[in-house]
Amino acid sequence: PQYERIRDEGALVPAIARGVYATAEHDVCKQVLASRDFGTVGRDEVGPFERQIDLSLLEMDPPDHTRVRRVAAPAFTPRRMAAYETRIEALMHEIVDRAQAAGSFDLQQLISAPLPISVISQLLGVDEVDDEAFMRYGTALGGLLDGPQSLRHVREAIAARDALRAMFIPLIEERRREPREDMLTTLAQHEGEQITADEMMPLCTLLLVAGFETTVNLIGNSIHQLMRHRDQWEALTAEPALAANVVEETLRFDPPVQLTSRVARADVEVAGRRIRKGSWVIPIVAAAGRDPKVFTEPQSYDITREDAGNHLAFSSGIHYCIGAPLARLEATIAVRIIAERMPSLELAGKVPIRRSRVIRGVRRLPVRVTPAR
Ligand code: HEM
Repeated sequence: PQYERIRDEGALVPAIARGVYATAEHDVCKQVLASRDFGTVGRDEVGPFERQIDLSLLEMDPPDHTRVRRVAAPAFTPRRMAAYETRIEALMHEIVDRAQAAGSFDLQQLISAPLPISVISQLLGVDEVDDEAFMRYGTALGGLLDGPQSLRHVREAIAARDALRAMFIPLIEERRREPREDMLTTLAQHEGEQITADEMMPLCTLLLVAGFETTVNLIGNSIHQLMRHRDQWEALTAEPALAANVVEETLRFDPPVQLTSRVARADVEVAGRRIRKGSWVIPIVAAAGRDPKVFTEPQSYDITREDAGNHLAFSSGIHYCIGAPLARLEATIAVRIIAERMPSLELAGKVPIRRSRVIRGVRRLPVRVTPAR
């Protein structure tokens, strides 16, 4: 409802503070995200607490952004994705075996979280994974996107950054000596020439954290929406190949990342309004997914719609999510295997939603399955 109020107020509306604007319109979001007159919210523009955590690509502009992005890109090619598919399927089957044995369980904890954590750790080349610690790090670092909520939160984020750094440094050194078939080797091979040592740790951390915080919620939000819209769940269990559509429709209807921010690098006109250099614009990509100018019946969750893929859930322009093909692959496999193996899945309690402006997801997803006879 809040997004609809913003949409009703106009294409670009003053928000939160002086010099900050928000947009709920698809074409305005897209224009701002693609415009060279806007840059990311960089180190100088954030507060002293956020400045402690270097978000790598997310706060870089060209030419540095172009240089560092080139280092990470080879890990996400279609050929690499095809190679990951069987591994992801095998992991997902193991995860479902464990959950099924439980009968009644928290799907977010037992399925949505372990899959992306295992996948991104394997792809990066991190052998020893402590699922619980990784979840905590993800929540602490991901939560910073909302701005630090308390001093305790800042301390947790700094501790997470330091723990991950302590884990990555020896691994990178190892890869320099003994290259393997993993992302850390690809990154280590570029160090010194395309990426500086200082840029390396933040990039590794971003890949790890961006790789699971969001995907956990894409899986969780997909299943949550399917449970709320039982007819859609039945359509999926009858035809599990619809899983890819489920993922696209969830990205449009209930995306894990709701909004992002940009800063005007010059005086610029947006949606007929002149805004000054230094102003912020918040493209609410979640609201763009409900824009009636782009989507028919935007408020209905429909896994057979054909226009879902026009969402902006992975952003647009040069910061378009580098992990989008991986996120789609993981979530599609997860949703398909859940539908195939747990057709009797149903909600078994209240579903609390996370309190966050940026990240949208459930805190718990209590479900139960009736064992097949
Ligand atoms: C960037 C969303 C999964 C890595 C972004 C951005 C969004 C996004 C909205 C751009 C932010 C902006 O324009 O300010 C998502 C969602 C995901 C997901 C919704 C899952 C459902 C992943 C995965 C990875 C990843 C699996 C890596 C393994 C990145 C990186 C960037 C990024 C490195 C920075 C790209 C750049 O600035 O050039 N993501 N992401 N993401 N994402 Fe994702």
